[in-house]
Formats: sequence, structure tokens, C-alpha cells
Amino acid sequence: MTPPTDFNDRMLSLGLARVSEAAAHASARLIGRGDEKAADQAAVNAMRDQLNMLDIKGVVVIGEGERDEAPMLYIGEEVGTGDGPAVDIALDPLEGTTLTAKDMPNALTVIAMAQRGTLLHAPDVYMDKLAIGPGYAKDVVSLDMTPTERVMALAKAKGVTAEDITCCVLERERHEDLIDEIRETGASIRLITDGDVAGVIHCAEAEITGIDMYMGSGGAPEGVLAASALKCMGGQMWGRLLFRNDDERGRAAKAGITDLNRIYARDDLVTGDVIFAATGVTNGSIVHGVRRAPTFIETETILMRSKTGSVRRMTYRNPIK
Ligand code: FBP
Repeated sequence: MTPPTDFNDRMLSLGLARVSEAAAHASARLIGRGDEKAADQAAVNAMRDQLNMLDIKGVVVIGEGERDEAPMLYIGEEVGTGDGPAVDIALDPLEGTTLTAKDMPNALTVIAMAQRGTLLHAPDVYMDKLAIGPGYAKDVVSLDMTPTERVMALAKAKGVTAEDITCCVLERERHEDLIDEIRETGASIRLITDGDVAGVIHCAEAEITGIDMYMGSGGAPEGVLAASALKCMGGQMWGRLLFRNDDERGRAAKAGITDLNRIYARDDLVTGDVIFAATGVTNGSIVHGVRRAPTFIETETILMRSKTGSVRRMTYRNPIK
């Protein structure tokens, strides 16, 4: 018999899909209603309810915020029935609250699960991120390179010119120089207004999404979720935490991080096997958004396991009673 402490990722994966599906169902009613908070809250409530049905001894390590900031799914919250393996949970019940409120593409509900102690407890600060898809030599690009050097190195490795490389970047004022420099190389840029977990995942399916490389800063918690996805799909990712003030440095200290300049590779962010589920809320290039018909509601979920590299896309249709 399997000891209850084993991380039986195969059996747990369907449960994880149910959790992300439930969050998408709940937030679907709020797509395009201009209310980010309500959409997020609906996803949080549904995700927590489903998570608490799983036979796990779960601890939220990437969640809605510190305990004093978030009443539910806060960092350190214990989730699950308490019977079963000890696991770390990283989640973003609604990745792209503004995308949902404005009915823009690529809003997702996202959750990852791994054996206890294997997901980086990333503080809520920014992270400088760099990601590419599978099939490239190790460290073909790096965070220490300039954006120009990264584009040139990737183009060379792909056997194309810089003009054939597409980078994905969050459209932010802080990225103006980055955007200018990438454009000067001749590479093109897919600007996204939000949702860099999806931005990074795009690199893993470059032939479908057209995106070769992700660059720029975004939330560090989202960085751990993106690394979880890439660990399942293949692809490389690096992240370096960015601190703007002492409060943010204090958050890192609280999370047990001592080397503030460390570059984390994908497998430093996620050190063991991981399972990952994301359900589309609005339509996107990774999965469809929620479809509501008079008699049913349908979601599409991408469910992946790093142990096997399996990637499932699952459609779930649920009758409306
Ligand atoms: P929300 O889910 O809170 O809307 O966050 C979306 C997001 O775009 C993330 O994907 C990204 O990591 C972060 O916000 C970027 O932060 P900022 O908006 O401060 O640049």
C-alpha cells in the first residue's frame, strides 16, 4: 500500500484540475463586469472550498498574500482534509483580474502542487524573469546578458535571424527601455497588458503561440507558478528578485531568503516534481475561456505533471440546473 505521505501526483492531478475548474466557473459570471475584486473573490472562495476537499496536508506557500492581508488562501494557510501527503501549494485563483474584468484574453485560474518544501516561498515582490521554450542548449540565454545579447543568442541557437524572434513583454512604463532595445535588434514584441504566467507558458509552445522568449519583471509569486508550468512542459526559466525598499527586503527575510541577488533557475524555483493546472477564464492562446450556454457551462483546463512531462487539455461540461 502507498504510504499516505507519498506525493502521489498521478492520483492528485485530477483533484487539482477540479480546483482550478471550480475557480474558473465561479469567476466566469464576473467576466466583463468591470469588478476585479468581485471576480477575484469568487475565484478565491471556490478554489479554497475545492482544495479543502482534497486528501492532502497542504500548506499555501504562494497565495493571496500575508495572513494579515488576505483572509483566505493566505501564505501559511493549511488546506486539505489533513489526510494524505504533505504538500506545498502555489496558487493564483485569478491570474489576470483586470483581464477578467475587461474581458481581455488569457485570464487563467492557476494552481500547482508539489511535495512539502520544494516550492520557493517567493515573497510578494517583483522578479526579473527570462524564459524560453524546450529544445535549446542549457543556459543559451541568461539574466546576466543584455536583452540584445539574449535575442542574438536565441536567434543563433534557433538558426534564424533576430527578425524571426518574438519576445513577450508586459506593457509597463518600467519596460520602456527593454522594449526599445529589443525592437532595435529587429525582433518583434508581443505586448501583454497583464498575466505573465501565461506569457511565460507561451514560450513552451512557440510553434502555436509564436512566442520564443519572455522577458521583464512581474510578480515573484507568479514566477514560481510559471516555473512549475515550464518544468512540466519543458523550457528554461530564470528569475531574480527585485527589491524597491526595506519593507520588500524584510518580506524576503521573512521567507527565509538571505541571498538577495541570487539568480534562480527553473529547478531552483521548483526543486521537486510538480503538478500544475490552469483553467481558462477568458479565451486565450493556451486554453479556451469559460463558455456559458443556456443549459451548460464548459471549461478547458491544461493539466500537467513534471514527472512524466504529460500535458492534458481537458474539457469539462457541467449542466446548469
Ligand atoms: P493580477 O492577477 O493581480 O491581476 O496580476 C496580474 C499581473 O499582470 C501578473 O501576471 C504579473 O506578474 C503582475 O500582475 C505584474 O505586476 P504589475 O501590474 O505591478 O506590473
